[in-house]
Amino acid sequence: MRILVVGSGGREHALVRALRRSPRVSHVVCAPGNGGIARDALCIPVSANDNPGILHAARSNRIDLVVVGPEAPLAAGMADYLDANGVPVVGPRQAAARLESSKVFAKEFMARHGIPTAAFHVCDTAEAAMTVIESSAAAYPLVVKADGLAAGKGVVVARGVEEARNAVRRIMVEREFGAAGDSVVIEECLRGLEASFIVFTDGKTVVPAVAARDHKPLYDNDQGPNTGGMGAFSTDVILDPETTRCVIEKVIEPTVRGMAAEGCPFKGMLYAGLMLTSDGPKVLEFNVRMGDPEGQVILPRLESDFAALCERIAAGTLAEYQPVWSSKAAVCVVLASSGYPGAYARGKRIAGIEMAEEDPSVMVFHAGTRRDGESLVTDGGRVLGVTAIGADLCAAVTAAYEAVNKIRFEGMHYRRDIGATGLRQSSLVHRQSREGVCQ
Ligand SMILES: Nc1ncnc2c1ncn2[C@@H]1O[C@H](COP(=O)(O)OP(=O)(O)O)[C@@H](O)[C@H]1O
Ligand SMILES: [Mg+2]
Repeated sequence: MRILVVGSGGREHALVRALRRSPRVSHVVCAPGNGGIARDALCIPVSANDNPGILHAARSNRIDLVVVGPEAPLAAGMADYLDANGVPVVGPRQAAARLESSKVFAKEFMARHGIPTAAFHVCDTAEAAMTVIESSAAAYPLVVKADGLAAGKGVVVARGVEEARNAVRRIMVEREFGAAGDSVVIEECLRGLEASFIVFTDGKTVVPAVAARDHKPLYDNDQGPNTGGMGAFSTDVILDPETTRCVIEKVIEPTVRGMAAEGCPFKGMLYAGLMLTSDGPKVLEFNVRMGDPEGQVILPRLESDFAALCERIAAGTLAEYQPVWSSKAAVCVVLASSGYPGAYARGKRIAGIEMAEEDPSVMVFHAGTRRDGESLVTDGGRVLGVTAIGADLCAAVTAAYEAVNKIRFEGMHYRRDIGATGLRQSSLVHRQSREGVCQ
């Protein structure tokens, strides 16, 4: 089988590595890829947002299946385009990608189908948004969200009226995110631990992946501005079996059924961003693709053939398929460039990756890297995702940070507490089971 992966980040590197493990896969091509993906796949210089370019690449490389990594091409209709031209694709069509590309669509969809989520208002003008913010019913903190895609920067958890007003001004008046700010969702602030729950679906059958947790804020203890994600971990402690069943039954199945019933069946990887509240799990948002960095900890835990899974998603034959997942834990620490998530430096020489990968439990996924002659240099805000697998979360965290300590580039920074909430959750579960609280 010959597979084309679309995208150039750490998620795509993890997708490429998972596909290469399949004995059925003879060739993996990546468009456009990066300096590390080039070691594992044939990288071709075609933009991830160029539909005709991707179709041409698929045809000229005799590709059997295209896996689309990022949300932007899906929101712009890449799956529709490839499908219409007879190329099998993993990823939803444009109408189904609205679950991510429009937060207004997602919230109204959840309301129509009784899917648990934060109470909300949709506002199409800044005046309407200001009225909601100033109404006596508005309880703080209050969450203001730009409707459209904003690269993880369009959500503000406002502690007071002034902060909420500023968010509306930036999104709707100054139009920091362009047309993504035509409308806003203003919603209730939920409390609890977050979880990323991703499933594979062919539009009918749902096959869950293991759960993960992202770390969005820049600094330790979730301080500082939000980023694309500074690290992630995946262990079975994040969602216990009962919560997992509840999420599948109350969130995932009604979503897949509801999208099909509304004439836009969802085919691909469906990601529910959840808040685990005292009132049960509630949806913060949907994404329509594998998470990044979550993919860097989820895919290494897959023991079954990922190419076979992708083939079944595209062919609509997921029924009865049950992949095997490792019970081990995985941790990914993102190494970022100086200045990220603001303007950052590029072209800094990276050293130590080979030494880090001498540990067989370590995989270094590349995000913003580029080859410059014989050397590898930084070429993005998030540069590397250093992932380690361990018998338990503690072992995985230790191995990941030991690997991080071997890698160097000028201005490199990273969070030191990736996995800490999971370690606290595990010790709570152990204590409860000793005390007989969990049966
Ligand atoms: N209703 C909410 N209550 C509390 N926190 C929220 C809420 N909605 C979003 N957040 C916080 O903001 C982050 C980003 O919001 P999200 O809806 O996932 O948008 P995006 O990923 O597109 O930026 C979430 O991961 C969560 O930490
Ligand atoms: Mg999110």
